[in-house]
Amino acid sequence: MLQAINITRRFGGVTALRNVSFSVDTGELVGLIGPNGSGKSTLFSVISGFHAPDEGTVIFEGRNITGFPSHRVARLGIARTFQIVRPFSGMTVVENVRVGVIYGCGERNIAAANRRARELVEFVGLEQRADTHARHLTLAEKKRLEIARALSIQPRLLLLDEVFAGLNPVEVRSAIDLIARIRSQYEVTIIMVEHVLKALMETCERVIVLSSGEKIAEGTPAEIAADPHVISVYLGKTYAAG
Ligand SMILES: Nc1ncnc2c1ncn2[C@@H]1O[C@H](COP(=O)(O)OP(=O)(O)OP(=O)(O)O)[C@@H](O)[C@H]1O
Ligand SMILES: [Mg+2]
Repeated sequence: MLQAINITRRFGGVTALRNVSFSVDTGELVGLIGPNGSGKSTLFSVISGFHAPDEGTVIFEGRNITGFPSHRVARLGIARTFQIVRPFSGMTVVENVRVGVIYGCGERNIAAANRRARELVEFVGLEQRADTHARHLTLAEKKRLEIARALSIQPRLLLLDEVFAGLNPVEVRSAIDLIARIRSQYEVTIIMVEHVLKALMETCERVIVLSSGEKIAEGTPAEIAADPHVISVYLGKTYAAG
């Protein structure tokens, strides 16, 4: 479904991604991990058209989408969430989701768009907050809104950037449940960036590890947890032992 080939992206003197290649099959749930600043969010930005790569190619469902602007990538079926949530603060929860239903998914009938937006708001568990302005939500609620907005375009590929970050253990548990429900209800392939490793190791079938902009490992969660290089740059001995 997705192929990233030799992706390099620089920001001034910083090389955020260096020659990164990987592919994802339809239906997979792939985890993307690595230390702070290792290029995870930049990789999402390159795939979703937020930043063009300096070198390399992104192929989605057989089509070369390298350098496509983000609205075009979204229409082709790739949605991403932002690590720093970005709701329209002065709009309600339902209105936020409706924007995606209308402009991302092309639903021109307002009543139908409203219905679809409310369904999604309910699906992510925000029905009690449906008519609240986004700025009044807690962080956990904003993360859910971010997911509902991503789903609003009916993506086939969903890029989740740290949707568990800053959540307490109860909220993490319910976020894991939400991801499972997304997979069972929508036919969507997921790549997920996460520092909450327990959650990621439990959920993902395959994990890709970045360090200083380079891919240093790829494998099943068990393989990754036992990889000496990954342990030394990221996981640490405690996680490997526990
Ligand atoms: N828009 C930008 N302008 C300049 N430098 C950037 C920009 N975006 C990212 N970088 C730099 O690129 C590198 C990779 O950043 P990125 O945000 O992709 O890392 P990350 O793995 O997502 O980190 P974190 O776990 O902290 O979210 C960092 O050195 C960062 O400072
Ligand atoms: Mg990031």
